[in-house]
Amino acid sequence: MTFENLLIDRDGPVAVVTVNRPKVLNALNTQTLDELRRAILALKHDDSVRAVVLTGAGEKSFIAGADINELAVQTPTTGREHAMAGQHVLDLIEHMGKPVIAAINGYALGGGCELAMACTLRIAADTARLGQPEITLGIIPGYAGTQRLARIIGRGRALELLLTGDQISAPEAHRLGLVNRVVPAADLMRDARALAATLAAKAPVAVRYILEAVHKGLEMPFPQAQVFEATLFGLVASTEDMREGTKAFLEKRKPEFRGK
Ligand code: COA
Repeated sequence: MTFENLLIDRDGPVAVVTVNRPKVLNALNTQTLDELRRAILALKHDDSVRAVVLTGAGEKSFIAGADINELAVQTPTTGREHAMAGQHVLDLIEHMGKPVIAAINGYALGGGCELAMACTLRIAADTARLGQPEITLGIIPGYAGTQRLARIIGRGRALELLLTGDQISAPEAHRLGLVNRVVPAADLMRDARALAATLAAKAPVAVRYILEAVHKGLEMPFPQAQVFEATLFGLVASTEDMREGTKAFLEKRKPEFRGK
């Protein structure tokens, strides 16, 4: 896979995707979003990839939002298409069936914060800044930021960030539950890769079903979500990895999962 605005690097079962437009703080233009769409689909269908790290090039920014040059010229119809295209790419990330870790190395604003929220886990450098500043441009988030933010940190806290447009620090984002971990900037990529490698060693089918149970189950009424979970539990019981995991425990050794 070769892309103009993305770098893809492999480290065993972990793929590292870097959005590479540092001159504009890795702002997401249409081309970059489309490259992300194609990269995510390719990584989803590559069985040798078991976890992904997503980050931004340079030391200053993860992604400073959608490209404001493109936003400034939207019409009602293109604006709707633009928002739906962004939502589609973020949905692909959320539903790719493999853990995606956002390594937030700097500004994660607007579409950058929305992209991070579509990832499975978020690790932030202590220097990172997060926020949804759309309101300061006279617009609203369009990549499902109003929805994911409220679901991740709660309605009241989300409304405050969305209505003020304030940037928050990484420790504040951690306090709000917006990021899972904060680490020294110098350790960010090492820690993100290590976490991805840990998740990549887990049983892939079980990982996929946990992601599905949480993401799809949360959108269902509780009794239905329980039936859904029980069905996935039954399905996972048919895997070789389930036999390997339970056998390894009883034999007091580490399991070797094969994704079958
Ligand atoms: N879209 C397009 N270009 C962007 C951008 C974006 N979202 N964010 C930054 N850039 C560009 C700047 O225009 C500037 O380009 P220039 O060198 O040609 O002037 C370059 O990236 C560097 O940004 P700059 O503003 O000079 O850096 P800074 O350190 O002073 O400020 C930010 C950093 C992130 C606070 C500031 O760039 C900013 O507020 N960006 C917009 C964030 C935003 O509103 N995102 C949501 C969009 S919906």
